[in-house]
Amino acid sequence: MGLRDKAIEALSEEEAVTELAALATEMAAHDVAYYQQDAPHVSDAEYDILRQRNLAIEKRFPELKRADSPSDKVGAAPASGFSKVSHKVAMLSLGNAFDAQDVDDFVGRIKRYLKLEDDTPVRFTAEPKIDGLSASLRYENGRFTIGATRGDGQVGEDITENLRTLQDIPHQLPAGVPKVFEVRGEVYMSHSDFTALNERQEKAGKPPFANPRNAAAGSLRQLDPAITARRKLCFFAYGWGEATGLPADSQSGMMQTFTSWGFSVNPHLQLVDSAAALNDHWAKIEALRSELDYDIDGMVYKVDRLDWQNRLGFVSRAPRWAIAHKFPAEKAVTVLLDIDIQVGRTGALTPVAKLQEVTVGGVRVKNATMHNADEIKRLDARIGDTVIVQRAGDVIPQIVDVIKDKRPAGAVAFAFPDCCPACGATAVNEARPDGTRDVVRRCSGGLSCPAQAQERLKHFVSRAAFDIDGLGEKQVNDLWALGLLRTPVDIFLLSENHAATPPDIWKYTSGKNTGQLKDSVQKLFSAIEAKKQIGLDRFMFALGIRHVGETTARLLARHYRSVENLQTAVLKIAEGDADELADFENIDGVGAALVASLVNFFAEPHNRQIVQGLLKAGVMPVAPEEASDDTPVSGKTVVFSGTLEKMTRAEAKARAEMLGAKVSGSVSAKTDLLVAGPGAGSKLKKAEELDIEILSEDDWLALVSTSV
Ligand code: IVH
Repeated sequence: MGLRDKAIEALSEEEAVTELAALATEMAAHDVAYYQQDAPHVSDAEYDILRQRNLAIEKRFPELKRADSPSDKVGAAPASGFSKVSHKVAMLSLGNAFDAQDVDDFVGRIKRYLKLEDDTPVRFTAEPKIDGLSASLRYENGRFTIGATRGDGQVGEDITENLRTLQDIPHQLPAGVPKVFEVRGEVYMSHSDFTALNERQEKAGKPPFANPRNAAAGSLRQLDPAITARRKLCFFAYGWGEATGLPADSQSGMMQTFTSWGFSVNPHLQLVDSAAALNDHWAKIEALRSELDYDIDGMVYKVDRLDWQNRLGFVSRAPRWAIAHKFPAEKAVTVLLDIDIQVGRTGALTPVAKLQEVTVGGVRVKNATMHNADEIKRLDARIGDTVIVQRAGDVIPQIVDVIKDKRPAGAVAFAFPDCCPACGATAVNEARPDGTRDVVRRCSGGLSCPAQAQERLKHFVSRAAFDIDGLGEKQVNDLWALGLLRTPVDIFLLSENHAATPPDIWKYTSGKNTGQLKDSVQKLFSAIEAKKQIGLDRFMFALGIRHVGETTARLLARHYRSVENLQTAVLKIAEGDADELADFENIDGVGAALVASLVNFFAEPHNRQIVQGLLKAGVMPVAPEEASDDTPVSGKTVVFSGTLEKMTRAEAKARAEMLGAKVSGSVSAKTDLLVAGPGAGSKLKKAEELDIEILSEDDWLALVSTSV
């Protein structure tokens, strides 16, 4: 038996010295083969065994650890999980353009917002949209200090040590850079590295990654940076977050600076100055797409002037000054094996196509949505049919066509069920407010349908809602099956009600801790506890009220400031309180269908019990911070009327909201200020009647300019 096979507990001190030296030499040689010659001698798994052995020997003989220990080469792995990093400047997403018309509209919108003449050119940078994962790299006094994932845009995960292993990420920036500077960009894996990695995976008997993006994500979220280091990842810089100074006054200038700091900026970045030129560049890159060694799913256009970017600002979670112009979806041909009916949290029955596995634009696809019964009819899709499946970015793949010539003999039309496959209740196409029939067929089982209840729980814990670590779809299914979870309130009572008599899946089944609670369960309890304090907007979104998406939840949270206030207001509206309804309708950005669905929700005693139960179990929704509370307009309700000459209505509104004002569409007793331009008409009259303060556009600008 060689030294290598000897158990670590059996090694003498002398043998340990020899073994540590041998491991250091051997792993250094593997590193050279892997990183510099791109020809690994061993599989990831074999390398990992060496690394583990080295670590274990060092653990037993800490004093023998070598100065050149392989375990120090890529930083230490955190003990468990990743810690969280708050983004001081949120990491946002982009709106989409799908055709030349959308791009024209985007450019038009910008010109109108900035009040530019039609023929004033607006310059844009145009660069590929990399299909990877965004990361934020924080530099303090030029040193790379923290690297984080995007997470939910507000809070990401600390993956500093993993990012340090990327060659494209400088550890030190040149002298003279701003004191704090966050570089943002995309981490991705090239096609060639992806293929090589999958070959190694397969050789090691591990499942291959579906696409480069998944491989990059898997590699970046390794608790052990040594593994990240062995998976080659690259980084393109395209933006920035918190910064104590900006080295340029244009997007393109910033990109040049990044290059001079040692970052890679995509070589296909170009400056263009019209919608037509944007579309030309898009077509050029689309033609080049298949030759690139990395995945891109469109182009990103950004207004070049940073002062204009600032003025344009953001709407919801995306900048007004940038857009993603997507490439067309990728398609493939396969066979429709079956149609499953899934029940969603609002009872919608969605047909899901079960497909013979096929690769669509690099991604393996086995399921595709068929939307609803009408869509199956329109396609006349039958089981056994050869179909065309399409996938665009992260959107669920869909069936877009059926090749009728290839239909097997005897294939029959699909009979869409008229009862819920989960609870058996009748399924109906509800009538819409305008009398037409909704295309979606819904289970009428409501609160007694187990499928709806499970889906509501999954929504409740989902990323944009409570986002509880260790409580995903699978765990919800498991806990449901055990009868431990029926409503969201049960989540917060899990430890109280079941820790003393835990189900078997919570206990160790072997080893010295047999029968005790697993560490992962303890962690789950802490994660649940930690989420008791939650943003009011997330809380409202989590309730799963129809028509309350993330944006609407934010509007409601900002307006009502507590769930009790919202509930009281909705119940008053249900009783016909006109003032309360008017106040609700004044929230800018809420649609008509919302009132009815809020009323439905809060009229249902079970839902009110859940809200109460959550609060009683210790959940504490926190109202969003008031935008600004020390400006002359903070807390005031402002109405704009008539034509504004120095800015657009949208800009005025955004500015007012930034300064803490509420902007309303109509004048009422609650209005504090009316900003009236020429042609203000009836609103002006009403404001005069109600004795409301009236300002001209110039007065308004003078008032707010002191506080910008
Ligand atoms: S700019 C404020 N530029 O696309 C907007 N994003 O849909 C910041 N992405 O989360 C984004 N390539 O992960 C920008 N050249 C590029 C990009 C890019 C890929 C990703 C990024 C972002 C997502 C938005």
